Amino acid sequence: MILGERIRLRRLERDDLPRCVAWLNDHDVRRHLALLYPMGLPNEERWFEQQLAAEPAVQPFAIDARAESMMSDSVDPAWTPVGVCGFHAVDWPNRQAELGLFIGNGDFRGVGFGTDVVKTLVRWAFRTLNLNRVQLKVFEDNAPAIRCYEKCGFRLEGRQRQSRFQDGRYLDTLLMAVLRDEWNG
Ligand SMILES: CC(C)(COP(=O)(O)OP(=O)(O)OC[C@H]1O[C@@H](n2cnc3c(N)ncnc32)[C@H](O)[C@@H]1OP(=O)(O)O)[C@@H](O)C(=O)NCCC(=O)NCCS
Repeated sequence: MILGERIRLRRLERDDLPRCVAWLNDHDVRRHLALLYPMGLPNEERWFEQQLAAEPAVQPFAIDARAESMMSDSVDPAWTPVGVCGFHAVDWPNRQAELGLFIGNGDFRGVGFGTDVVKTLVRWAFRTLNLNRVQLKVFEDNAPAIRCYEKCGFRLEGRQRQSRFQDGRYLDTLLMAVLRDEWNG
């Protein structure tokens, strides 16, 4: 378990997959990810098997949020699964990796959990994996994500112009990164 302030990161389990499929079919999530086609459980199961065969550093984490302040009848009062995160493209010789996440449960977006997750992952990357640089890509229309990354110390490094075609228009992809030297976590 990797603990943040109000979140914990644990290994994704098979039981998580059906809710992941539901999240990845939600327009509010998928429009910010590079997903083109509708997602089905067999797609997700195949992806999950591929992740299990990958090196530990790139295997995904389930995000559980402490739900006291968000309680409803449908949530566990202690921990509620709210999303998925992790690293990919880990480049050991250059000690860098790419970070990705989504908060799939809409009730838990916009109340600080994403920032908690990113801070926790970056701290783990620098203090445990001994990485030197964490980078990510984000579409230009994703203001909450950009703000969240800025709050965690990420800086804009570049822009891939018109690299994403969505809903009939082109969007730029922003390249952001944080270096260990400049990170103040
Ligand atoms: C992006 C995401 C992970 C951020 O997590 P979150 O829990 O929603 O974010 P937080 O609440 O921690 O922070 C969001 C910040 O953006 C701000 N924000 C929200 N809407 C905004 C807008 N339209 N313009 C500018 N800032 C905005 C919030 O006020 C908050 O900043 P603040 O704390 O200074 O007030 C989450 O929204 C998500 O999963 N979205 C769908 C999938 C996705 O976009 N994944 C990332 C792909 S790169």
